[in-house]
Amino acid sequence: MLRRLHPDQPDTFAFAPANQAWAEAQITKFPEGRQASAVIPLLWRAQEQEGWLSRPALECVAKMLGMAYIRVLEVATFYFMFQLQPVGKIAHFQVCGTTSCLICGAEDLISVCQDKIAPMPHGISQNGKFSWEEVECLGACANAPMVQIGKDYYEDLTAKKLADLIDEFDNGKIPIPGPQNGRYAAEPEGGLTSLKEYETGALAYNASAQTAVDLQDTVKRIDGTEVPLFTPWLSNTKKSEKA
Ligand code: FES
Repeated sequence: MLRRLHPDQPDTFAFAPANQAWAEAQITKFPEGRQASAVIPLLWRAQEQEGWLSRPALECVAKMLGMAYIRVLEVATFYFMFQLQPVGKIAHFQVCGTTSCLICGAEDLISVCQDKIAPMPHGISQNGKFSWEEVECLGACANAPMVQIGKDYYEDLTAKKLADLIDEFDNGKIPIPGPQNGRYAAEPEGGLTSLKEYETGALAYNASAQTAVDLQDTVKRIDGTEVPLFTPWLSNTKKSEKA
């Protein structure tokens, strides 16, 4: 598929101060002359901040890494995880349309997105809050059909459940991610048949859903203040210099 930059572009892009500090710290992971290796994390952080990648964002990353703009454009257009057009202000829905999800009802989920968000993929809903697209397998096939909403997976969906989720986001709520049919994780629907000893003392939700509940960042645009800046490799470098 041909991926191009969006025709309507903002005039400028700048990382928020804490994101700028984070990006500069990432660059120090790589030896002198290899700063280009930080291109994907920096593009990803720009997208986490803005929701999508504009031309000024690509130019900003190219400048920070000393790369030719075309090299950054190549990366951004190659990887489908990078959104090259504006997305909904609240959430972008990525509906898995690969085999397991297709067999289990992905087409019904796409119909819901067409009805409630926009008729075509990458369209934005009339209220500007939501957008959607169909994506390839997201690796949660045992919980098909599923949709990634913002950062998190919503699994074991039905058309009604997805419609309800969209309504909840529309009402300012963040529904709890993970299986939506009562399953804890990817165990058999009838319950565990082995490893039952691990049921006792388990967290309220499975590890990724629990992290989402704890961080509350499912659809948050990241400004870098969410978690402290952590650069253990810098102290390791100092230790090895001393030795
Ligand atoms: S086929 Fe949908 S997650 Fe793998």
